[in-house]
Amino acid sequence: MALYSEKVMDHFRNPRNVGVIENADGVGEVGNAKCGDIMKIYLKIENDIIVDVKFETFGCGSAIASSSMATEMIKGKPLSQALELTNKAVAEALDGLPAHKLHCSVLAEEAIKNAILDYYKRNNLPYDPALEEACAHCDEE
Ligand code: FES
Repeated sequence: MALYSEKVMDHFRNPRNVGVIENADGVGEVGNAKCGDIMKIYLKIENDIIVDVKFETFGCGSAIASSSMATEMIKGKPLSQALELTNKAVAEALDGLPAHKLHCSVLAEEAIKNAILDYYKRNNLPYDPALEEACAHCDEE
Protein backbone atom coordinates (compact mmCIF):
# COMPACT_ATOMS: atom_id res chain seq x y z
CA MET A 1 0.00 0.00 0.00
CA ALA A 2 1.24 3.48 -0.82
CA LEU A 3 2.33 5.53 2.17
CA TYR A 4 0.10 8.44 1.16
CA SER A 5 -3.47 8.29 -0.11
CA GLU A 6 -4.38 9.74 -3.49
CA LYS A 7 -6.23 12.52 -1.72
CA VAL A 8 -3.13 13.50 0.23
CA MET A 9 -1.11 13.54 -2.98
CA ASP A 10 -3.81 15.55 -4.77
CA HIS A 11 -4.03 18.22 -2.06
CA PHE A 12 -0.24 18.32 -1.78
CA ARG A 13 0.23 18.79 -5.52
CA ASN A 14 -2.76 21.10 -6.05
CA PRO A 15 -3.38 22.76 -2.72
CA ARG A 16 -6.65 24.70 -2.47
CA ASN A 17 -6.90 28.15 -0.88
CA VAL A 18 -3.19 28.98 -0.84
CA GLY A 19 -2.39 32.61 -0.21
CA VAL A 20 -2.98 35.61 1.98
CA ILE A 21 -6.16 37.56 2.73
CA GLU A 22 -5.35 41.26 3.04
CA ASN A 23 -7.38 42.79 5.87
CA ALA A 24 -8.30 39.37 7.22
CA ASP A 25 -10.71 39.33 10.16
CA GLY A 26 -8.68 36.69 11.97
CA VAL A 27 -5.18 35.28 11.53
CA GLY A 28 -3.79 32.21 13.23
CA GLU A 29 -0.20 31.04 13.16
CA VAL A 30 1.09 27.85 14.67
CA GLY A 31 4.35 26.02 14.61
CA ASN A 32 5.58 22.60 15.53
CA ALA A 33 8.71 22.96 17.61
CA LYS A 34 9.98 19.50 16.70
CA CYS A 35 9.87 19.65 12.92
CA GLY A 36 10.01 23.45 12.62
CA ASP A 37 7.03 23.62 10.27
CA ILE A 38 4.79 26.70 10.36
CA MET A 39 1.19 27.18 9.24
CA LYS A 40 -0.72 30.43 8.93
CA ILE A 41 -4.48 30.68 8.35
CA TYR A 42 -6.35 33.82 7.28
CA LEU A 43 -10.13 34.15 7.74
CA LYS A 44 -12.67 36.53 6.27
CA ILE A 45 -15.78 36.43 8.44
CA GLU A 46 -19.23 37.88 7.85
CA ASN A 47 -22.14 37.31 10.23
CA ASP A 48 -20.29 34.45 11.93
CA ILE A 49 -19.74 32.68 8.61
CA ILE A 50 -16.29 32.01 7.16
CA VAL A 51 -16.78 33.56 3.74
CA ASP A 52 -13.15 33.12 2.71
CA VAL A 53 -10.08 31.33 4.01
CA LYS A 54 -6.49 31.15 2.80
CA PHE A 55 -3.36 29.53 4.13
CA GLU A 56 0.41 29.69 3.95
CA THR A 57 2.23 26.58 5.10
CA PHE A 58 5.96 26.30 5.31
CA GLY A 59 6.08 22.64 6.00
CA CYS A 60 5.94 19.05 4.90
CA GLY A 61 3.62 17.60 2.28
CA SER A 62 1.20 16.28 4.90
CA ALA A 63 0.96 19.72 6.49
CA ILE A 64 0.22 21.29 3.11
CA ALA A 65 -2.40 18.64 2.29
CA SER A 66 -3.92 19.05 5.78
CA SER A 67 -4.15 22.84 5.42
CA SER A 68 -5.70 22.51 1.99
CA MET A 69 -8.31 19.99 3.14
CA ALA A 70 -9.04 21.83 6.39
CA THR A 71 -9.64 25.14 4.59
CA GLU A 72 -12.02 23.37 2.19
CA MET A 73 -13.88 21.90 5.17
CA ILE A 74 -14.48 25.26 6.90
CA LYS A 75 -15.11 27.50 3.89
CA GLY A 76 -18.69 28.80 3.95
CA LYS A 77 -19.27 27.29 7.38
CA PRO A 78 -20.31 29.00 10.62
CA LEU A 79 -17.59 29.62 13.19
CA SER A 80 -19.24 27.18 15.59
CA GLN A 81 -18.75 24.40 13.04
CA ALA A 82 -15.16 25.40 12.27
CA LEU A 83 -14.35 25.27 15.98
CA GLU A 84 -15.49 21.66 16.04
CA LEU A 85 -13.14 20.59 13.28
CA THR A 86 -10.68 18.08 14.66
CA ASN A 87 -7.38 16.96 13.23
CA LYS A 88 -8.88 13.48 13.14
CA ALA A 89 -11.65 14.67 10.81
CA VAL A 90 -9.06 16.34 8.56
CA ALA A 91 -6.95 13.17 8.44
CA GLU A 92 -10.04 11.06 7.70
CA ALA A 93 -11.11 13.41 4.92
CA LEU A 94 -7.66 12.84 3.40
CA ASP A 95 -8.28 9.07 3.58
CA GLY A 96 -5.77 8.82 6.38
CA LEU A 97 -2.25 9.93 7.19
CA PRO A 98 0.62 7.71 8.34
CA ALA A 99 0.76 7.59 12.16
CA HIS A 100 3.99 9.58 12.31
CA LYS A 101 2.37 12.30 10.18
CA LEU A 102 -0.79 12.79 12.24
CA HIS A 103 0.80 15.74 14.03
CA CYS A 104 0.79 17.59 10.71
CA SER A 105 -3.02 17.60 10.71
CA VAL A 106 -2.95 18.89 14.30
CA LEU A 107 -1.33 22.06 12.98
CA ALA A 108 -4.39 22.68 10.78
CA GLU A 109 -6.85 22.29 13.64
CA GLU A 110 -4.78 24.56 15.88
CA ALA A 111 -4.21 27.24 13.23
CA ILE A 112 -7.97 27.49 12.60
CA LYS A 113 -8.76 27.70 16.31
CA ASN A 114 -6.05 30.33 16.74
CA ALA A 115 -7.42 32.40 13.84
CA ILE A 116 -10.95 32.29 15.28
CA LEU A 117 -9.61 33.27 18.72
CA ASP A 118 -7.83 36.20 17.07
CA TYR A 119 -11.14 37.28 15.49
CA TYR A 120 -12.96 37.09 18.83
CA LYS A 121 -10.26 39.11 20.57
CA ARG A 122 -10.05 41.80 17.88
CA ASN A 123 -13.79 42.36 18.15
CA ASN A 124 -14.06 42.02 21.92
CA LEU A 125 -16.46 39.14 21.46
CA PRO A 126 -17.08 36.60 24.21
CA TYR A 127 -15.54 33.15 23.72
CA ASP A 128 -15.12 29.90 25.54
CA PRO A 129 -11.96 30.15 27.74
CA ALA A 130 -11.14 26.59 26.69
CA LEU A 131 -10.27 28.04 23.31
CA GLU A 132 -7.55 30.15 24.90
CA GLU A 133 -6.14 27.08 26.60
CA ALA A 134 -6.20 25.15 23.34
CA CYS A 135 -4.20 27.96 21.76
CA ALA A 136 -1.79 28.51 24.65
CA HIS A 137 1.05 26.76 22.90
CA CYS A 138 0.09 27.85 19.39
CA ASP A 139 2.79 30.50 19.16
CA GLU A 140 5.57 28.02 19.81
CA GLU A 141 7.77 27.64 16.85
FE1 FES B 1 6.08 18.98 10.56
FE2 FES B 1 4.53 17.58 9.01
S1 FES B 1 6.54 17.07 9.60
S2 FES B 1 4.06 19.38 10.06
